Amino acid sequence: MVVGTQAIDVDTLIIGSGPGGYVAAIRAAELGQKVVIVERDFIGGICLNVGCIPSKALIQAGHLYATLQHGNPFGVTVGESKLDFAKTQDWKQHQVVEKLTGGVEMLLKKHKVEIVRGEAYFNDNETVNVIDGDDSHIYRFKKALIATGSRPVEIPHFKFSGRVIDSTGALNLKSVPEHLIIIGGGVIGAELAGAYMNLGSKITIIEGLDHILNGFDGELIQPVLNNFKKNGVDIITEATAVEANQTDKDVTVTYEVDGTTKKVTGDYCLVSVGRRPNTDQIGLNNTDVKLDKRGLIEVSDSMQTSVKHIYAIGDVVAGPALAHKASYEAKVAAAAMSGEDAHDKHYVIPAVAYTNIEVATVGETPQTVAEKKLDAKSSKFPFAASGRAMTMDQTEGFIRLVTDNPTGAIIGAQIVGPEASDLISELTLAIENGITIRDIELTIHPHPTLGEEIMDAAEVAAGLPIHI
Ligand code: NAI
Repeated sequence: MVVGTQAIDVDTLIIGSGPGGYVAAIRAAELGQKVVIVERDFIGGICLNVGCIPSKALIQAGHLYATLQHGNPFGVTVGESKLDFAKTQDWKQHQVVEKLTGGVEMLLKKHKVEIVRGEAYFNDNETVNVIDGDDSHIYRFKKALIATGSRPVEIPHFKFSGRVIDSTGALNLKSVPEHLIIIGGGVIGAELAGAYMNLGSKITIIEGLDHILNGFDGELIQPVLNNFKKNGVDIITEATAVEANQTDKDVTVTYEVDGTTKKVTGDYCLVSVGRRPNTDQIGLNNTDVKLDKRGLIEVSDSMQTSVKHIYAIGDVVAGPALAHKASYEAKVAAAAMSGEDAHDKHYVIPAVAYTNIEVATVGETPQTVAEKKLDAKSSKFPFAASGRAMTMDQTEGFIRLVTDNPTGAIIGAQIVGPEASDLISELTLAIENGITIRDIELTIHPHPTLGEEIMDAAEVAAGLPIHI
């Protein structure tokens, strides 16, 4: 074991290189700081390596395979469609994940950010130990940023091992399961259900609540549910997963629903019941950094913890566990650590589920308008009336705008349908900048696009619809 007893002095120490940590490192370096970033696993964190990016790669492959398998109205046939899943996985790993993580590593180096491999553990408010196998070094920092992210929650009797897998396991399967059982129909469960459904698996979702995709309203997820139903996905709601018993060939999940005990057998059981912050194993008890009851680090709007020179961002602080929220906070923290008067001033954070039919939401919804008793209305434009959606053969879903009655400002938006994930950005920009339905209506949108349906939705909101 190599143990460094002499502390290595560093200016800015960032722990974790996910979309929070690496963005903060680059921005802090751009602002003139000397930065060291510590990473125990892969550069790019969960998102790039075993989260957002690889899941999107499998979802994309699934879309293509399903289109070829189920036929299409375009008159295109290409002989027998086959899936070489080893090739899919190889492409996902080498052409997507490794290219991206390699790119991030290159960017860090270009900005002269020093990458230190190992697991950081706070000794006190000024130093961390970085342990990498038999190596251990002490770093004394002037400023530190905690961006250690989160990990999947494990539930009793479903220990991750063998055929009981977390999202990382589900993304790295060697073959497409014949039957995938998913416990937890949240964003991860619903996205991977869609991906493997398209790749040919039978899917059973066991969900504790009375609906899947919690956080998205019923009207919004109806097209997703219809699509799951059409593809034979079993969704069992208000169910409690009791235990998993595995053999070398399969896994049987016992669950309770409507007061009866049932069993379902599949090749794998994915448990996706939420994530917990990585704040419990990094020695924070040796510091004066304050945590709340959920184990999240308390921060100011400059992302500063209760220890003034230690900052925290991303899944370890309050708010949705989303990569883009972490990256935003990273820029605030990097500026604040560089001495700027930087504050988190966002109004809204968009959220997207890359289900087979995408769902996206930002800001107020009809439900929050009712709860808050706001003077606002919602209006919808269906993709069925969109020329571009017709040419894509993707006419399910709609765009919904929530507008403030007195000013006409857009205060919320939801989209279910093609490219919802991309379309939501225009509406996020609108909300952040107090844009009104009139502004959108009078902005020339290119034709024919899915984006022009936002203009159509604004016309509906203004009571002057052209296309419906
Ligand atoms: P989640 O919180 O979205 O969903 C977990 C689901 O599991 C909930 O519906 C919950 O009711 C259910 N559940 C909890 N315990 C259960 C039990 N014992 N039995 C049955 N059901 C149970 O968590 P998920 O899907 O694991 O995602 C974690 C985080 O990752 C989320 O916060 C999400 O924001 C983020 N994420 C974001 C994505 C995106 O932006 N597209 C994609 C994937 C994840």
